[in-house]
Amino acid sequence: MLPFIRSDLAQFTAYKPHPGSDTTQAVQPSTKIDRLDTNESPYDLPPQIKEKLALTYEQVIETNRYPDGGHERLKSAIAEYVNDSAQLLSSVFTTANISVGNGSDELIRSILIASCLGGEGSVLVAQPTFSMYAILAQTLGIPVVRVGRNEANFEIDLQAAQLAIEQTQHPPIRAVFIVHPNSPTGNPLTTAELAWIKSLSEHILVVIDEAYFEFSQNTLVGELLQRPNWLVLRTFSKAFRLAALRVGYCLAHPELIAILEKVRLPYNLPSFSLAAATVALQNRTLLLEPIPQTLTERAKLIQALSQDSTLQVWKSATNFVYIRLKPNSFSSQDAAVKIVNQKLKAAGTLVREINGGLRITVGTPEENTRTINRLQAALISLKR
Ligand SMILES: Cc1ncc(COP(=O)(O)O)c(C=O)c1O
Repeated sequence: MLPFIRSDLAQFTAYKPHPGSDTTQAVQPSTKIDRLDTNESPYDLPPQIKEKLALTYEQVIETNRYPDGGHERLKSAIAEYVNDSAQLLSSVFTTANISVGNGSDELIRSILIASCLGGEGSVLVAQPTFSMYAILAQTLGIPVVRVGRNEANFEIDLQAAQLAIEQTQHPPIRAVFIVHPNSPTGNPLTTAELAWIKSLSEHILVVIDEAYFEFSQNTLVGELLQRPNWLVLRTFSKAFRLAALRVGYCLAHPELIAILEKVRLPYNLPSFSLAAATVALQNRTLLLEPIPQTLTERAKLIQALSQDSTLQVWKSATNFVYIRLKPNSFSSQDAAVKIVNQKLKAAGTLVREINGGLRITVGTPEENTRTINRLQAALISLKR
């Protein structure tokens, strides 16, 4: 351990990006793998949009100049999209309600810095959930309080959550992170969960991560106007097919946005990413076109996997499906899940092993058929 490094960092391991994320290397056709482990869209941008962006790169972007650090053009496009997609009666969101990040990961870090850093607050998460909230909090020395979920439908253990809020001191819980619908389990917020987050004190920041909004069409942005302690996070990495370009945004009360703007780096988004996200919003009808197919494919995947008596498959409101091996199907559940995951990987299908289960992104129809076949083959070999 280097003597000048914070001692608590020694126990952390760096986030390991998924295999194949190095796009600087030419991909061999023979090594084609189905990347169903990070909930991206399986579809690259349409050629006409790529051409438009290539022209922007060639003719508009001056690489010797810093990017637009105020993000005004993109923020206006986001405000127009949110007002339109939330079917709000008037155009309530303006650029003052929006902050843009280098992926929503960057915004999560800014939120943590703004609310909890310096011993001022702890964060609450309900496991299993998106891992970056806890990872980023820990790297900032912010304590993480974890509660569980009901295994039948993955609703948050609300009693435990309330108790944690009441009993956590030194420092108290200042931020609650909720994904709607949750990752890895795919469930949207229940009425009871919604009532609970509405009951939280205004001293607690409620972060509602709607990374998968375009798939679920379930949003709480309409609530933001009455709730200065709520913030909605969104990303261009999923339905908008821009994971490579790292653009996320959040919506909140202007006062909270002003704080996040103070905390962020001045030129946090490259010019090309800003241009691509703006073009994506202008062409959203085209880019979001595959969503109905994804939802049909999700139903197909759930239906096929549910046929196997050893698999427990949950409903999903988004573009991935969570499965576990049923209790008592195999002598060691954990070992069996690991073996199934390894067999899928060896066959060319990458999925994510989380909390004793597998999260599988809905891919193209061909990828999904391969997932079903490869999973069935893995389970058969395990049962022998
Ligand atoms: C719930 C959730 N929030 C945020 C992110 C990160 O998004 P971004 O690519 O914008 O950093 C992800 C990515 O998987 C996610 O699942």
